[in-house]
Amino acid sequence: MHIGIIMDGNGRWAADKGWPRSFGHRAGAKKVSEIIKYCPELKVKTLTLYAFSTENWKRAAHEVSSLMRLFRGYLQTKYLEVVKNNIKVKFLGDTNPLPKDILLQMKKLETDTNKNNGFFLNIALNYGGRNEIIRSTKKIAKDLLSDKISVNDINETLFSSYLDTSDQKDPDLIIRTAGEMRLSNFLLWQSVYSELYFSNKMWPEFTTQDFEMAVNSFRQRNRKFGHKEYDFKKFV
Ligand code: IPE
Ligand code: IPE
Ligand code: MG
Repeated sequence: MHIGIIMDGNGRWAADKGWPRSFGHRAGAKKVSEIIKYCPELKVKTLTLYAFSTENWKRAAHEVSSLMRLFRGYLQTKYLEVVKNNIKVKFLGDTNPLPKDILLQMKKLETDTNKNNGFFLNIALNYGGRNEIIRSTKKIAKDLLSDKISVNDINETLFSSYLDTSDQKDPDLIIRTAGEMRLSNFLLWQSVYSELYFSNKMWPEFTTQDFEMAVNSFRQRNRKFGHKEYDFKKFV
């Protein structure tokens, strides 16, 4: 099972307590480790976390730099844990505009966990669904121009293979915290048949019980993919 999480509400959580927004981001980062550790219990094999969107650069400069500092520190402190725990890390998004040292840490983590297969962790960092679709289209155009593929090869399977999530299944469930009911540019292509779950909790206060509630809600759903019969048996 693949779950995507739009971890929202760090700023509001901190502001409610009269603290700077960066405190909220720090508390949010702590929550990430707790949720990852709980995944095996719920039989969740893949987790995609929305950490920073292509639109988030437009926030105040001090907030953006505090987030970059947080990513830098987080990648450093979690490195060994991730490598040892058989977690395969993949970053989704446009890596070019990120600070070079963070980029190096990201590459190292991806390379050093490449053979891991216990758990799949995608981190969407400078990610935007539209940006991903444009980058993929450019790669397809290049391969067309160099005759690697022809126009008739272009179909949904080929297009998916050019996305950042190329070798992965689409998310079964997307959870968003902080009461907002929108995707905010998260996994546009991949979310077509994802089930959606919204929690009113701010991300730093989202607990493993809340996570379990979301998964249980998903397990009650009847997925039809546009063609399946409604399964009444499931609900009796
Ligand atoms: C989510 O929390 C974290 C990021 C977008 C990086 P926010 O920072 O969006 O928190 P709110 O929505 O302002 O409360
Ligand atoms: C989405 O949250 C991005 C992340 C959680 C990283 P935002 O807070 O940026 O989204 P909007 O502005 O509420 O749509
Ligand atoms: Mg927000």
